[in-house]
Amino acid sequence: MSVTIGAAREILRGNDRGGYTVPTAALYPYQWNWDSAFVAMGWITFDEPRAWRELERLLEGQWADGMVPHIVFHAPADTYFPGPDVWRTGHSVPTSGITQPAVLATSVRRCLDAATDRAGAEARAAAIYPRLVAYHRWWAAARDPGGTGLVGMLHPWESGMDNSPAWDVPFARVSPTPTTPIRRKDTGHVDAGMRPTDDFYRRVIALIDLYASLGWDPSRMWAETPFKVADVALNAILHRAERDLLALAQRFGDPAERGEIADRLHRSRAAIGGLWRASDGIFQPVDLSTGERIPVATSAGFLPLYAGIGDGTVASALAATLHRWKALAPYGVPSTAPDHPGFEPKRYWRGPVWAIVNWMIADGFAAAGETGAANAIRDDTATLVRRHGFAEYFDPTTGDGLGGGSFTWTAAIALAWNLLEE
Ligand code: GLC
Repeated sequence: MSVTIGAAREILRGNDRGGYTVPTAALYPYQWNWDSAFVAMGWITFDEPRAWRELERLLEGQWADGMVPHIVFHAPADTYFPGPDVWRTGHSVPTSGITQPAVLATSVRRCLDAATDRAGAEARAAAIYPRLVAYHRWWAAARDPGGTGLVGMLHPWESGMDNSPAWDVPFARVSPTPTTPIRRKDTGHVDAGMRPTDDFYRRVIALIDLYASLGWDPSRMWAETPFKVADVALNAILHRAERDLLALAQRFGDPAERGEIADRLHRSRAAIGGLWRASDGIFQPVDLSTGERIPVATSAGFLPLYAGIGDGTVASALAATLHRWKALAPYGVPSTAPDHPGFEPKRYWRGPVWAIVNWMIADGFAAAGETGAANAIRDDTATLVRRHGFAEYFDPTTGDGLGGGSFTWTAAIALAWNLLEE
């Protein structure tokens, strides 16, 4: 396959199911939340109405309390587990019951800035804006009920970095005894060595069973869950999205909304700053069940820069960390530190490189003035995609493309980041 702009557009068109784009055929046959936010950034480079449609279709799944679910099950499919019958959320548009990193407002702002049809973009962004306000209020109310400035995730899938070694200790507290039988479909599409383990799936479904038994009520979930983590990526991505929402609020909102967003930004900036671990040269998450920090270095730990958090000393320490990792694994940025005992170069979020994460990390380094680090990540991503195609993720030691093929968000970010030629 030639890896060109045209080929990337073909992937998006081929995975289009009518206004929403599946991540890849068979393995992920529905609409995923943060995938679609990145995918709209790809569509906007060549089909503006289609980019807006992507975001609008995702919001068809939004709950009355503001939550934007991690999966919207627009049409039945029998190639994925767990489907709507396992989630049992009872919504008229079937959805999962948890969310994913809040890239959405950032995507809307980017699409609005990039659009050439100004009037069309203004109208569509204006209609979406109140939905974003509701989503961000939901984050504060449902995932930070104590008003600490840090949101907590209640399921590893909420981080988008499903089986990261950072969750190993807190996730071990979830008893692997689901009432729902496990009927994995993923290992029929992709080598099991590149996917999470069966034990991981048993705990994943046990948590879904627990939350379904609580009627998906956020306050009961928060009170009763055995798994609650303040992840660096989740918080940094939300903080960045709040900044982008504030920019949108200058156009579409009122002073009270702007004040509310500014207050949340003020609190979360300080709280995320507190996740910095100078001795390790990286930001690290906190286990909210115990209050203890989780001493695992992952690619999430670079993302506060993408949120505009971290001074010059922090940014240069992060650049040094990146440099150290690249000496051990030549293709940046591995999802887990290559010298961590849990590092597995081919297993999903335990080592592989993900192009969308690279885009965010490079954006953060560039904004912080660490141009060398930003360029190195962009160059690595371009090399990986050009040599190995639009794979779901890549081996940081060999560069091999892994997981699902013809993967939508890899193609979309290659378009948005301008990594390809005609
Ligand atoms: C996997 C990834 C998640 C992504 C989804 C669809 O579950 O871990 O981040 O959103 O696949 O691509």
